[in-house]
Amino acid sequence: MGQKKLIKFAAIKEYENVLEYPQGMPGKWDSFFAELEKGTTPIDVESLAITAHLSDDASAKPAVHKKPLVLELACGRGEYAVGLGRMFPTHNFLGLDLKGNRIWKGASIANRDGLKNVAFIRTQIDQVTQYFAQEEVDEIWITFPDPQLRLSKAKKRLTHPKFLRLYQQFLKKEADSTHVGVVHLKTDSPNLYFFTKTVIDLYGLTLITATDNLYSTEFRQSEKWDNRCAIKTYYEGLNIANSNRIHYIQFKLDKPLPIALDEKLKEIIAEFEVTETHDSLARNGKQAME
Ligand SMILES: C[S@@+](CC[C@H](N)C(=O)[O-])C[C@H]1O[C@@H](n2cnc3c(N)ncnc32)[C@H](O)[C@@H]1O
Repeated sequence: MGQKKLIKFAAIKEYENVLEYPQGMPGKWDSFFAELEKGTTPIDVESLAITAHLSDDASAKPAVHKKPLVLELACGRGEYAVGLGRMFPTHNFLGLDLKGNRIWKGASIANRDGLKNVAFIRTQIDQVTQYFAQEEVDEIWITFPDPQLRLSKAKKRLTHPKFLRLYQQFLKKEADSTHVGVVHLKTDSPNLYFFTKTVIDLYGLTLITATDNLYSTEFRQSEKWDNRCAIKTYYEGLNIANSNRIHYIQFKLDKPLPIALDEKLKEIIAEFEVTETHDSLARNGKQAME
């Protein structure tokens, strides 16, 4: 491992705003951020107060004022956690990624700029349910995740129902709000965009916004434009999918996701997916899911 990586790994171990594979965090994020704000060091995770549901029993919910918690999954350098943290001091933001050297970047910026509402958790997304209580998270952002283009890897896509079922275990369920219980996906992959739209459609989830050209003048001037989408990430700049278009979807995880439908999903995507871009599909006269 390179010397620079080792230095970054050592640095995040000392940062109060980075937790690596923490134990016992469900229900404690609001208290954690309160301690971060106070400048407590070190923050003793075990002694943090629980402020969110830990069971189905609504009466078990402690009556403590909570700041909304927004989670950025596969955050890389955490541009969304940091950028949103600047825009919304009234909310807490948590970036999650496996790679400590990437997290180091966002965590260092948050420390430098005194953003006490921004923190990071280093772990595997597959284990994400271990870290939150029911309805502890208000919103989820997923930006430029690996599109996992091979059909055999479809289950690894972060908007596959397999993952959405995990998110449902801790995402708020406020059916009447378009600001809470929402998942945002930003991607340059037409394939991941159409896949996600297919999932939303098949499982009957509520689609709030979808565009295959986020920065088009038309979309930017429409009432659907959301200033939060202007934040750019490292991978956004790389244009790996070579699509030259940023795709964006906002939807709610507001319906059950029956496992019985997963087979149907597999059949649908087997029909329309190839490892080409949507544009090349169109050029070849094939039909993609709209
Ligand atoms: C393509 S990068 C995107 C990073 C960032 N969102 C951006 O737009 O620049 C995907 C990120 O997902 C993270 N990742 C991939 N699989 C993961 C997993 N199972 N658990 C946690 N993070 C994961 C990688 O470490 C990487 O930082």
